[in-house]
Amino acid sequence: MQNFILNDGTKIPAVGFGVFMIEPGQATYDATLAALEAGYRHIDTAAAYFNEGDVGRAIRDSGIPREEIFVTSKLWLSDYGYEGAQRGFGRSLRKLGLDYIDLYLMHQPYGDYVGAWKYLAEAKSEGKIRSIGVSNMSPKIYRTFRAQTDVIPSVNQVNFNPLFQQKELREALAADHVAIEAWGPLGHGNAELLGNPVIKAIAEHHGKDTGQVMLRFEHQEGIVVLPKSTNPKRIASNKEIFDFCLNSAEMDAIRALDTGVGHNPDAEGLAERLMSAYVIED
Ligand code: A2P
Repeated sequence: MQNFILNDGTKIPAVGFGVFMIEPGQATYDATLAALEAGYRHIDTAAAYFNEGDVGRAIRDSGIPREEIFVTSKLWLSDYGYEGAQRGFGRSLRKLGLDYIDLYLMHQPYGDYVGAWKYLAEAKSEGKIRSIGVSNMSPKIYRTFRAQTDVIPSVNQVNFNPLFQQKELREALAADHVAIEAWGPLGHGNAELLGNPVIKAIAEHHGKDTGQVMLRFEHQEGIVVLPKSTNPKRIASNKEIFDFCLNSAEMDAIRALDTGVGHNPDAEGLAERLMSAYVIED
């Protein structure tokens, strides 16, 4: 597995296994264990996925030494503010059954994220978190956030796939060397994208499937990818993206698929909707 180096010097495995929308309980446990057995060493969960406990159990049962696995989780909005973050981070540690987390993100950029960020920065300096970051920050939200803090995040995890290549955001993050992580890197299994003729032709040329070509494209763009699957065959195949390389014409052909349309954190009413969606409990 290849790594990227974050702006704080930490190594992050370039492909992580995402467990968003995998049902809590046995399904998350089985998928996480299958991913670890297939060779993933990077798991991405969140308090709001309600499956941190299952991820933690799979990590323990895998028998793989803790320090060999890069674990990401995320703080939900109901635990924002300084004290909320302290509570929410402690709960994530307990549910995961870990004594530190490799990467901890603020899941959504609303509410008192400045207070929460202050706590995360402290927890990082105390070694409880190795790297801290944000998620779902649009260029506009990122600029507002940076005007309120000197603590630069290492990561911004956002919606990214060949149809939504986040050009403006990449420019906004470049000066701070903030890495982009892609959620939904396969377009959530969107059949139109998986069957796109441009991607299909490239996949056939390399003897790969279209999922692998999309992930390879994103990797070559410098993006950390977090594909999700509950199918053991696809869990395994989605990490096999280091034995081929897209040439510049292929990269340009996929770059041309960008529509600029995807999840929009600035959308009217979204902040209110998410802030009242649910409360994470012990
Ligand atoms: P499944 O769990 O049956 O494999 P994303 O990571 O963009 O959110 O996409 C996840 C969705 O894409 C899931 O529905 C998953 O279904 C499907 N999927 C994952 N990997 C592949 C692949 N290589 N080819 C086709 N579909 C995939």
